Amino acid sequence: MPLLLTRDDVIGVLNMFDCMKVVEKAFAELAAGTAVLPLRIGITPPDGLALYMPAYLKEMNALACKIVSVYKNNPLKFNLPTTIGKVLLQDPGTGEVICIMDGGYLTAVRTGAASGVATQYLARADKGQVAGIFGAGVQAKMQLWAMTVARPIACAYVYDISSATTEAFIKEMGAELKLDIIPADSPGQILAESDIICTASSSATPLFDGSQVRPGTHINGIGSHTPTARELDTTIIKRSKIVADSFEACLKEAGDIMIPIQEGVIRKDDLYAELGELITGRKAARTNDSEITLFKSNGLAIQDVAAAKLVYEKAKKAGIGKEVTL
Ligand SMILES: NC(=O)c1ccc[n+]([C@@H]2O[C@H](COP(=O)([O-])OP(=O)(O)OC[C@H]3O[C@@H](n4cnc5c(N)ncnc54)[C@H](O)[C@@H]3O)[C@@H](O)[C@H]2O)c1
Repeated sequence: MPLLLTRDDVIGVLNMFDCMKVVEKAFAELAAGTAVLPLRIGITPPDGLALYMPAYLKEMNALACKIVSVYKNNPLKFNLPTTIGKVLLQDPGTGEVICIMDGGYLTAVRTGAASGVATQYLARADKGQVAGIFGAGVQAKMQLWAMTVARPIACAYVYDISSATTEAFIKEMGAELKLDIIPADSPGQILAESDIICTASSSATPLFDGSQVRPGTHINGIGSHTPTARELDTTIIKRSKIVADSFEACLKEAGDIMIPIQEGVIRKDDLYAELGELITGRKAARTNDSEITLFKSNGLAIQDVAAAKLVYEKAKKAGIGKEVTL
């Protein structure tokens, strides 16, 4: 009988630290060739995007498929989140679906976890760094949480075009993380103050002038994920050492990367590494304190599969959820 896990059940068992551990293993499997990861299928109804994301991790013995949608007008029009998802976790031995869980919170945590892992490998090592977050929505919260797990963060700046969203972010995450979070009055202030930047907005156009980014900065770019949308301008792409979650996803889905390639400013070969190659030691991560490093995240099903298996195991152990006959 499949176990049914609600959003609250998932929230009750999933934390960033543990999620970063399993997401790191999943990226290592991808680099080692033991992950099966078909490119996700996307369908675009008039108001949004629906994605179908399956994957299998052999070493972790995990198989799942996530259905996720991104509808930008959801918060204002329907009081629903922009990103909504459900995950079907299967027994790799029988193919039987063993768990159906809400995937909204899981998506945000596993997206934060990938940035957290990338930050552990790519950000400078010095203590007391400042985090700067673009966007103050659902993903942005988890990005900041992951930054505090990856590095000792002294304080954070946040910039969102909605001041109400910024205020809510500061109230919630300041209390949650016991962190001083300052509202930035401009994108430039984030660039001037931050050592680690996360872009987690719904913007389809660049968020800042890439020439103003300080040497030594690490950036996690997680927002835009279609060929014509981007949060990062050509200048910052040109200035950065680029690490992708997946080259294939970057070259097929990420306007941040595809547009500068179309402009002839960078070539495919300028993408330095996939995250898994840093984790498995095939390529060196940061090599000096002045380079600008950029992790471009498109979101991979291996992250969902790893996080879903973790949630399932924790829920079983804690006796959480409801078994149902379908
Ligand atoms: N890489 C991944 O794995 C992954 C996973 C899930 C979602 N996403 C993407 O992350 C993005 C954010 O998703 P969400 O669920 O947090 O959405 P959300 O609607 O909750 O938050 C987005 C925020 O961005 C703000 N924003 C828009 N334009 C801005 C600008 N120019 N400057 C600053 N802030 C701006 C909005 O006001 C909003 O508060 C979306 O593009 C989504 O598709 C990526």
